[in-house]
Amino acid sequence: MDDYVASRRVPAYRMLMTSITIPRPDDWHLHLRDGAMLEGVMAHSARDFARAIIMPNLVPPVVTGAQARDYRERILHALPEGLGFEPLMTLYLTETTDPEDVAAAANSGLVHAVKMYPAGATTNSQSGVRDFDKVTAVLEKMAEIGLPLCVHGEVTDAQIDIFDREAVFIERVLDPLRRRIPQLRVVMEHVTTKDGVDYVRSQSNMGATITTHHLIINRNHILAGGIRPHYYCLPVAKREEHRLALRQAAASDDPHFFLGTDSAPHPTDLKENACGCAGCFTAPNTMPLLAHIFEEEDALDRLAAFASINGPAFYGLPVNEAEMTLVKRDEANEFPSSIETGAGPVHVFDPQMPVHWHVSRT
Ligand code: NCD
Ligand code: ZN
Repeated sequence: MDDYVASRRVPAYRMLMTSITIPRPDDWHLHLRDGAMLEGVMAHSARDFARAIIMPNLVPPVVTGAQARDYRERILHALPEGLGFEPLMTLYLTETTDPEDVAAAANSGLVHAVKMYPAGATTNSQSGVRDFDKVTAVLEKMAEIGLPLCVHGEVTDAQIDIFDREAVFIERVLDPLRRRIPQLRVVMEHVTTKDGVDYVRSQSNMGATITTHHLIINRNHILAGGIRPHYYCLPVAKREEHRLALRQAAASDDPHFFLGTDSAPHPTDLKENACGCAGCFTAPNTMPLLAHIFEEEDALDRLAAFASINGPAFYGLPVNEAEMTLVKRDEANEFPSSIETGAGPVHVFDPQMPVHWHVSRT
């Protein structure tokens, strides 16, 4: 794996025009849910990804080390035999989180990050943080032990337009926090704006995940020519100029940026609803979509950095030794429009374009 790290500087990792082999990718932001939904979606991530940072926004949320240990067991139990997958657990930060419990869970190797949701920002975030001063002791402890903080970077102030919530979060919450505790390692999750990309680039001790869908859709996909609830997620997709900035960042080989799909399954009836849930389900088709995008960006040689190398480097983990090969075929990939789960059907993200890249499963 040292070779892979060293090869960050070497553009082409065994690349041909119609085939690319990369270290097996990881997903640095994933919602697996629980119960019947977990059972239904687990294989779709484990098929392509070796590891994933598991989001803790269950109901009730995963707040303590003990809860994370139990959730990890349920995930491993849902894993079909023959598929290797390592869940990297996170804790959900509340105003009453105990710094010592966090430290113990991190030191035991169970927990790899703490997730901060501003209260009310997104799905199941009611127990999130309202007063950021109340979590200073936990954050200082995390800085001391090197445990990353993953942030959902949106303010929840009703006065702030939903398309501006990320930029305002940077100004009001993130930048003051970084100045107060500069040693704290922070991941700006699912960055969606040029403002976010520029901010992250200017920082040390910081990374950002970028989702597959934000590289493909802008806000027109949600709202032009009819409302399309399956493209609604949080943070909401922004203007085209922001999508282009995200593509540039993902394909730039900059170690600040790595893949976090934010694959967030909801039953179809809760998406196609008068008050539809936020989230796009991209676990089944992310890797072919990324190969397509990186080819369009003339950056196939940088796919490994984004999907397989920059993430482990940030989290201090080895790059996977196993590999994945993606091949480009004449026939377009036929993604299912939805998958069946015990919690109901889940719509699979539709990129609305033919995608000729396939994960080789031979
Ligand atoms: C996520 C979910 O459904 O849990 N939804 C989403 O739109 N991304 C929560 C989140 O990451 O914001
Ligand atoms: Zn998420």
